[in-house]
Amino acid sequence: MFGYHAKMRCRGYILIAMLSLASLLLAGCQGSSDDDRIVLKFPHVTAPGTPKGQGAERLRELIAERLGDRVVMEVYPSGQLMNEDDAIEMLAFGEVQMIAPSLSKFDRLTRKYQVFDLPFLFPDLEAVEAFQQSSVGQDLLGELSRKGFLGLAYWHNGMKQFGGPVPMRRPEDAAGLKFRIMESDVLEAQILAMKANPQKMAFGEVYQALQTGAIDAQENTWSNNYSQKFFEVQPWFTESNHGYLGYLLTVNPGQWKKLPADIRLELEQIIAEVTAEVNANAAAFNIKDRARILESGQSQIIEPSVEEMDAWRRVMRPVWDEFADEIGEAVMSATPAGPAQ
Ligand code: LMR
Repeated sequence: MFGYHAKMRCRGYILIAMLSLASLLLAGCQGSSDDDRIVLKFPHVTAPGTPKGQGAERLRELIAERLGDRVVMEVYPSGQLMNEDDAIEMLAFGEVQMIAPSLSKFDRLTRKYQVFDLPFLFPDLEAVEAFQQSSVGQDLLGELSRKGFLGLAYWHNGMKQFGGPVPMRRPEDAAGLKFRIMESDVLEAQILAMKANPQKMAFGEVYQALQTGAIDAQENTWSNNYSQKFFEVQPWFTESNHGYLGYLLTVNPGQWKKLPADIRLELEQIIAEVTAEVNANAAAFNIKDRARILESGQSQIIEPSVEEMDAWRRVMRPVWDEFADEIGEAVMSATPAGPAQ
């Protein structure tokens, strides 16, 4: 029987194989409503009050305001339409027109995006932003366009924290625990480096898996830990800031090119404005939600000492060496890691 990992990898291959056929079938075919306005369906998995949720809603508003007679955006938050792996497939088939999965979820389609998952590579959102705005980072937006996915922008969520059933001050405290991770081989290696057990799982299943004990622990941003109510079902967080969670705002390049040029231009302008807002506000969402978790009284937050943080870094650092070759020197050298010695 296939495990989740093998199943997802296999889905990736099937997906790539079907893309060329899909783009042929899609030529000239945009979603359209009864009144002939172009319909842009945007499903995503986070709650409305998150960096991605707010960004999607703001896109919908500005599109209604400036292009309302010709374009309508429909936003489906909280995984109500589909999970993000399905959204990636549905975009390829033109069933939805815009998605923003975390960069980790493109792992099966390109190795280069693995750079975003390397633990402790980016110390904070400013460092991620500098990399994304570099020429290497901007080129990466188009990395998947020949496979049917055109990145239009990077949206931040924030830095990830560990959460679990016991206080995790040092990596040894996490040993043996079963951690939910996103579909990413880097994240799998990171959890193995902690001598814990990784389990790839869709976002929408995490709350129940924590509640029933199917998993013990997980990693996510304050925004997701709060809005998914993970603090209700796990008593301890470690403020580790060990990794980045951000999104690729993505369209199907075939469909995108078919849009009337003036509409596409206006959409690009709206996306640039909304991206600036999302990325300027993401940190504030996370700070607010951290405070709300504390206020709930249901979880405690450990702030590791400098020495404890060094222990986390030491344990995870070998993960870089495992993936640096696949990611490639050109990409790695544009990150805070700098050129290989
Ligand atoms: C996750 O699966 O943990 C995240 O990718 C969810 C999200 O979209 O923030």
